[in-house]
Amino acid sequence: MKIGVLKEIRAGEKRVATTPEVTQKLIKLGFEVVVQAGAGDGANFSDKSYLEAGADISKNAASTYAAADLIIKVRAPERNANTEQHEIALMRSGSILISFIWPAQNEAMLKLLKEAELTALAMDSIPRISRAQKLDALSSMANIAGYRSVVEASNQFGRFFSGQITAAGKVAPAIVMVIGAGVAGLAAIGTAKSLGAIVRAFDTRPEVKDQILSMDAEFLELDFKEDGSGEGGYAKVMSKEFIEAEMALFAEQAREVDIIITTALIPGKPAPKLLTEKMVKSMRDGGVIVDLAAEQGGNCELTSPGKVVKRHGVNIVGYTDLPSRMAAQSSQLYATNIYNLVEEMCPEKNGVLEVDMENVVVRGATVVKNGEITWPPPPIEVSARAPSYSGQTKEVEVEAKKHEPKEPSPVALAAKSAWLPIFISGLALFGLGLVAPASFMAHFSVFVLSCFIGYMVIWNVSPSLHTPLMSVTNAISSIIVLGALTQLSSDSSIVMYLSVIAVFITSVNIIGGFSVTQRMLQMFKG
Ligand code: NAI
Repeated sequence: MKIGVLKEIRAGEKRVATTPEVTQKLIKLGFEVVVQAGAGDGANFSDKSYLEAGADISKNAASTYAAADLIIKVRAPERNANTEQHEIALMRSGSILISFIWPAQNEAMLKLLKEAELTALAMDSIPRISRAQKLDALSSMANIAGYRSVVEASNQFGRFFSGQITAAGKVAPAIVMVIGAGVAGLAAIGTAKSLGAIVRAFDTRPEVKDQILSMDAEFLELDFKEDGSGEGGYAKVMSKEFIEAEMALFAEQAREVDIIITTALIPGKPAPKLLTEKMVKSMRDGGVIVDLAAEQGGNCELTSPGKVVKRHGVNIVGYTDLPSRMAAQSSQLYATNIYNLVEEMCPEKNGVLEVDMENVVVRGATVVKNGEITWPPPPIEVSARAPSYSGQTKEVEVEAKKHEPKEPSPVALAAKSAWLPIFISGLALFGLGLVAPASFMAHFSVFVLSCFIGYMVIWNVSPSLHTPLMSVTNAISSIIVLGALTQLSSDSSIVMYLSVIAVFITSVNIIGGFSVTQRMLQMFKG
């Protein structure tokens, strides 16, 4: 079969559906590849590089569509503003299309595909299950969008993200709030953290708390009992009361933070309006909001999709083409996602594509088959998604069978109790006291208590404060100065001189340690 790679016609779209590197892999699967001239220009892949990879170059869209059995694209087919012709009109009946299609929002498109007797697979409808992660183009693009949102924010912010102490004065770290810790949100958290900002994040799904904390960001918690985890690996629409409660939290945060990156969305629904004009007004001058949900109406009332607008001294970024702004990277990931789908559909590696409706991944993505609309697919039962640090999603398929809740046994209850370890340690100490000498027990008890207190103190300190904690511990360790002080009045002049030197050095350590700690804490306070 021949794969046709089209140049995207949407104004400003720089991505391309395959790269020279992936072209080689497609050829190894037994396919021929024909690329429309200039298709990779926006992403800096020249026609020459496709030729070297083994593809043919066709001179225009019409000749590429005419040659292709399988068409791969990024954007859903659309009417060409220059030629007034719809891209679907150029496709041969019986050919297969793989691209983003957004069937839920694009009923008219499904009809056109049906009338043209095509088979179409939507990259946006790949089920979010573990096996299909490597095909998940939505996650690949959201990961890039999350990264880029921080780059755009930094561009508008015009200040450092990290706190610094320079000869010219102290610079406070930027405080970034991320709303929605899905794929894009987690990528934004990782990027903002790596630039040195203080990051706070909120999501309606409580299971993302651990991921946020593991990235050393703060999880903003709401005292409201409602779980946001829904079906299909996505969040569910929250109650009006919950939205009001979270908006009250955002109103409070808006006064403190410098940058808000908002990604809250439930697929197929308009973006919830979470940031009001009043909140924007309350932000500091020079603040930035990056609204990733701009295309679905935006999470902020003042977002203008596709543009950067300044309102009440705050720059609001509503770009809807963030992945396209990193075209080389997004094309590479998208091309790999498509390759993995093609590989899934070509088990014999013989260059023939099989649209196997028994395959749950292929079934999920197929929206039209041989002129028949097959969307929506039957639901796959899955638990809520848990996006990982890398921005890729992870999802656990759940069994349909329900487990009967059991009464917990008294032993199980006792095991859960925090008192049990204390009780056992107490018994062990008592047992030891019966056999060990009294002097040993006195030292041993102090040792055990110090371990306990040290553990409790350090465990309850946020990881971001570990550096100031180390400098204060260093200062406290200079308690050994007491030894030197007792030797100052020694009869031996050598001992006395050594004690003076020891007191001097430990004093530097004490004063330095405390003052560095103080400066670090000031930095965190902003
Ligand atoms: P996702 O579904 O992985 O994440 C959305 C997150 O928002 C979920 O964790 C969900 O629990 C959370 N959420 C939903 N309602 C919420 C609420 N009321 N309050 C707080 N959190 C809430 O989606 P993904 O893939 O991370 O994409 C996020 C957004 O970025 C989407 O709007 C997507 O369309 C957009 N996007 C934008 C691009 C651009 O160029 N602007 C490019 C790619 C994605």
